[in-house]
Amino acid sequence: MKKVLSGMRPTGKLHLGHYLGVIKNWLQLQEKYECKFFIADWHALTNKYKNTEDLKENIRQMMIDWLSCGIDPEKATLFIQSGVKEHAELALLFSMITPKSWLELNPSYKDLKFNLYYQYLKDFLAGKQVKILLTPPPESFEEAVSKATGKQKSKIFEEYLREAFHRAFYSQKGIDFKYLKEVLIKLGIQKKIVEEAVKNLEEGDVGKDIDTLGFLAYPVLQAADILIYKADAVPVGEDQLPHIELTREIARRFNNLYDSIFPEPEAMLTEESRLPGIDGRKMSKSYNNAIYLSDSSETVEKKVLEMKTDPQRVRRTDPGNPEVCIVFQYHRIFTPEDTVKEIDTKCRKAEIGCVECKKILAENLNNFLNPIREKRKEIEKNLPEYEKKFMEGTEKARAIASETMLQVRKAMKLWEF
Ligand code: TRP
Ligand code: SF4
Repeated sequence: MKKVLSGMRPTGKLHLGHYLGVIKNWLQLQEKYECKFFIADWHALTNKYKNTEDLKENIRQMMIDWLSCGIDPEKATLFIQSGVKEHAELALLFSMITPKSWLELNPSYKDLKFNLYYQYLKDFLAGKQVKILLTPPPESFEEAVSKATGKQKSKIFEEYLREAFHRAFYSQKGIDFKYLKEVLIKLGIQKKIVEEAVKNLEEGDVGKDIDTLGFLAYPVLQAADILIYKADAVPVGEDQLPHIELTREIARRFNNLYDSIFPEPEAMLTEESRLPGIDGRKMSKSYNNAIYLSDSSETVEKKVLEMKTDPQRVRRTDPGNPEVCIVFQYHRIFTPEDTVKEIDTKCRKAEIGCVECKKILAENLNNFLNPIREKRKEIEKNLPEYEKKFMEGTEKARAIASETMLQVRKAMKLWEF
C-alpha cells in the first residue's frame, strides 16, 4: 500500500483555511493509504528559536485540532517529530552529502527572505506616511492608477511594489539594492526616504533572524523526515514543491554514493484553500482575519457580521453582486446548494439584506463547526488519554525510523555499536 507522509509546523491554532487546504485532504487520505502525520516542532524552531514559550502549547493545540477534525490515530500514525531523534541523525548524515548551493538556490528560502524584506519596506514607508502618487510610472501602471480611487490605489501600489521588489530581489544572486532604489524613486517616493529605507535594509537586522545554519538546512531536515519512512507520496501545498524536489535529489545522491535504499517520493499536490479571510485577503493569523476551528459560535457570528460585502452595495435597496462578495464565497462552501442559488438571485434583486445573508452564513458555518466543537470538548476533558495516542504513534514511528537508520549506517559503512 502506498505510504503517505506529511507534517505541519505547530504555529498556532488551525483556521478554516487550514481545514480546507490540508485537513480535509488528510481525512480522505487516511481512509485509503498508510498515512503518517506528524507535528514538525523542530521545523518550527528554524525561524522561531528565540521565543519558545508557546511551543508546547502550540503542539498541544495542534493535537487537539487534528483529533477534533477526525484525524484518527487508529487509521494514521500520528507523532511528534522531536520524539524521533533518528530524524536528526539522518539529517546530519544528509548534510554531509548536500551541496550548499542546493540550499541557497532553493526558491522557498529565497521567497521567505523576500517576504521579510518586502514587509519591512512597506512598514517603513507607511511609517513615513509616504503619499502614493507616482511620477512617472510606467504606462500600463499609470492607466491603472488613473482609473483607481482611494483604497484601490494603494492596492495597486502594493502589487506594483511587490512586483518591482521581486524583480530587484531576483535580478542577481542577492538583492540588487541599486535597482531597488531606482524603482522606488520611480514610484515617486522621495529620494531621501528611499535612501534611508534601502540603507536600513542593507545594513539592518531584517532577515538576520533566519541567517542561521538551521534555517538554511530546513529542507535537509525535511528530506530526513520523509525518507526515513521511505514515503512514496507527500501531500503538500505548492510552496513545498521545491523541498520535495530537493528530497528526491538527496535520495538520488545517497543511493548513488552508497546503496539504493531510498525511494524517490512524489509530491501529492493539494490545492490551496481559496477561502479568503473576513477582510478579503488571504486567511492568515498575521492578518487577524481568520476564523478558527476553535472559535465559539458567538465569535463566528461576530466575525461573519464584520465580513466585507459587495463594496458597490451601499444601501439595502441597491442590488448586489455576489460574484465580488466574500460572504458569498463562504456560502458556496458552507451553505446548501439550493439556498446558495436563492441568495444569488435575491442579492441581485436587492431582495435580501446583507445582515440577513450573513446571519444565514453564520448559522451554516456553525453547523459545520459544531461537530468539531463537540469533539474538542470531549478531547479537552480527557486530554492525557488523547496525548497518549501521539506518544504511541511516536513509538511506532521510531521503530520504523530506527530500522531505516540501521540500513543507512550499514550502507555508509559507519561504526557499529
Ligand atoms: N515544511 C512543511 C511546511 O511548512 C512542514 C514539514 C516538515 C513537512 N517536514 C515535512 C511536510 C515533511 C511534509 C513532509 O508546511
Ligand atoms: Fe454579499 Fe449576501 Fe450582501 Fe449579496 S446579500 S452582497 S451575497 S452579503
